Amino acid sequence: MPLPDPALVVLVGASGSGKSTWASRHYRAAEIVSSDQLRGVVGSGEHDLDASTDAFALLEQVVAARLGRRLTTVVDTLGTDAPRRRRWLAAARGAGLPGVAVVLDTPAGVCRSRNAARDRPVPARALERQLASVAATTDLLAGEGWDAVLVLTPDDLPTYLPTAGPRNTPSRRRSGTVATDGTSPPPGVLREGGGGLRGVVLHLSRFPAEVDLLEWLRDMAAAAEAAGLAGIALMDHLIQIPQVGRAWDPVPEPWVALGALAASTTRLRLGTLVTPVTFRAPGITAKAGATLSALTGGRAFVGVGAGWWEREHAAYGLGFPTPRERLDALEQGIETMKALWSPGTKPYAGQRVSLPETTSYPRPVGELPVIVGGGGDRTLRVAARLGDGCNVPSDEVGLAKVARYLALVAEAGRDPSTVHATVLDLPLVGRDRDDVWSRVERHRGRTAAASFAARHHAGTPDEHTRRLAGLAGRGVTTAFVAPVGLDGPDDVLALAPLATAFG
Ligand code: UTP
Ligand code: MG
Repeated sequence: MPLPDPALVVLVGASGSGKSTWASRHYRAAEIVSSDQLRGVVGSGEHDLDASTDAFALLEQVVAARLGRRLTTVVDTLGTDAPRRRRWLAAARGAGLPGVAVVLDTPAGVCRSRNAARDRPVPARALERQLASVAATTDLLAGEGWDAVLVLTPDDLPTYLPTAGPRNTPSRRRSGTVATDGTSPPPGVLREGGGGLRGVVLHLSRFPAEVDLLEWLRDMAAAAEAAGLAGIALMDHLIQIPQVGRAWDPVPEPWVALGALAASTTRLRLGTLVTPVTFRAPGITAKAGATLSALTGGRAFVGVGAGWWEREHAAYGLGFPTPRERLDALEQGIETMKALWSPGTKPYAGQRVSLPETTSYPRPVGELPVIVGGGGDRTLRVAARLGDGCNVPSDEVGLAKVARYLALVAEAGRDPSTVHATVLDLPLVGRDRDDVWSRVERHRGRTAAASFAARHHAGTPDEHTRRLAGLAGRGVTTAFVAPVGLDGPDDVLALAPLATAFG
């Protein structure tokens, strides 16, 4: 049972029950506010009881300041002071954070013997009083309005060790099978001829300057294969977008770069996310997509969108019509591509497009899905009627759009199980809790740490795996994942557990 995060976590337990040990195994040192430690800060040491008043005053201040910033705060005291608990919980609620009480329900005998073994044991009578008030507190907690009360007995504790990992998560099944030599890719991610573009696809939007681009792309492809990812998608922009980097950061032309990737992998699905219809005549995108499909033996996909960034159009001498016209162009573009990819060379006379012939070779191999990016209602309707999938953000708003899209697909008389409900996910992935938060600090810029962490679901690979598995449960078939601060192959290999999220 993973605890909510961020959250207020209040520990309750007698001396020697294992509060500090449990806290340090699950949280970063900076997240734990301990009265003992603060005694050591304002007094002569952790056992300097004369410093208690000052230590608790400081503790209150630290707890209030952290909760005010919506940062996870673990309060490591005996936890038996009811007014203090009430105050902390109110402060958490005020900040919009859940409050959890964690009781270390360690048998009295164990506490006694651990206490006796310590350098400076608590006097026996004091320990008895603590044990009694912990027992009384445990009864009170249920009525105090905590979001969760977790009572841990020594039997529970092993499952909370970070190395034991969560129970019943798919990632456990495949731990340790990452092949860095590329000889034994994890099984089952790519069901040939079946689900097509399913699973976790690496989305590349940042490209390094001053490296060998071809070598870098090859290394990224090898890492994506080794990590068991389903494919690679390349962003299609003419100038690096401000959401990702600086205007002078390199952004390769994606269809050319996909050609290089095609030569670097025999497993990955490859395509754009997304190609604006304003960049190239749709017939040319159809030609590029069909060529990529031929080069990959049917592992291509084409992401398309209406285009949104005026600046790159102006800089490259491209027209940037009104939103309505761009959406018209999106409809026409998809219809044109599908006409050119369909069998034969006969003339095409559709609703919006007429072509005197549809002679287009090479033909795509098998399915060549068109993923329509964008969450506007008309875009979703275009995706449902004409495309083979949608692409929306992976947040709650996006998930509502996935549901809307699937309903529109059904409304259009199509089988929702045959389409690709895809999301763009921007996770911050760290090895462990310390690494996660040092990455948050490195990348957050001026955004508050808690907001940045929440936006990017900052967490460990296992946490992301659970989260993505939750998306699968809400109709999502494919997550295009663009990790925050993705630099090179090592960051891709770190995504291996995520590859299992879609089963
Ligand atoms: P803690 O120091 O974690 O207890 O463990 P505590 O609840 O925070 O105690 P106070 O209130 O600060 O005094 C006490 C001893 O028990 C051992 C620890 O290594 C430490 O020496 N311990 C703890 C275990 O051996 N196993 C455990 O699962 C937890
Ligand atoms: Mg302690």
